[in-house]
Amino acid sequence: MGVFISFEGIDGCGKTTQIKLLRKTLEDRGIKACITKEPGGTEAGKIIRKMLLDSRLFLDSYTQLFLFVADRVQNLNEVIRPALEAGKWVLCDRFVESTLAYQGYGLGIDLGYIDYIHREVIGNTWPNVTFVLDCPVEVAKYRLERRRGESMAQNGISCDRYETKTLEFQEKLRKGYLELVERDPERIIRVDGSKTETEVHALVLRFLEEKKLWPLGI
Ligand code: TMP
Repeated sequence: MGVFISFEGIDGCGKTTQIKLLRKTLEDRGIKACITKEPGGTEAGKIIRKMLLDSRLFLDSYTQLFLFVADRVQNLNEVIRPALEAGKWVLCDRFVESTLAYQGYGLGIDLGYIDYIHREVIGNTWPNVTFVLDCPVEVAKYRLERRRGESMAQNGISCDRYETKTLEFQEKLRKGYLELVERDPERIIRVDGSKTETEVHALVLRFLEEKKLWPLGI
């Protein structure tokens, strides 16, 4: 079996950058990593993602929940499980904790219910490690606005359903993520996401080393 790592945090926390850095470090050691993301890691998922992120479309909280779960089931069966069975590392940009944070803490759906659905659909395929990149909402907002400016200039894409939410909503998410870390400290690790990209990457590697997942065979 391979190694399954998920990255979590509020929008603008730097997860996508950290996934790229970890992929590069792994590849430099000759380890091929499978990168995926939720929502949108599969062909069906891309269609689901479009629907979920279109802020012009009204979607009830439960509709959002079930669409995220549907996307996750596709990703698990088409991408994550086959890659793990082939012995690969899987780096997943968001997983179950995003649903607990956004639809649970953010939109108020019962956490026990979200856990219950996931126990059914995930079975044993839980990440070995989940990194929560934690940073103040103002820092994340600043990064997001910079990125948004760049993508608007490149392809006219503006912000999505969740990025347009208030700072208060983002604070709820941040607090939720920190509670999730406390709930399962063996698997879910808080990393200070306000540090530089290189520093955060070093923290990630150090933790993988502590968990004896890294460096491999050296
Ligand atoms: P991304 O921009 O990190 O790809 O994520 C898309 C948005 O979807 C992001 O604002 C977080 C949100 N989201 C949820 O609300 N629930 C979920 O379960 C997932 C996976 C993402």
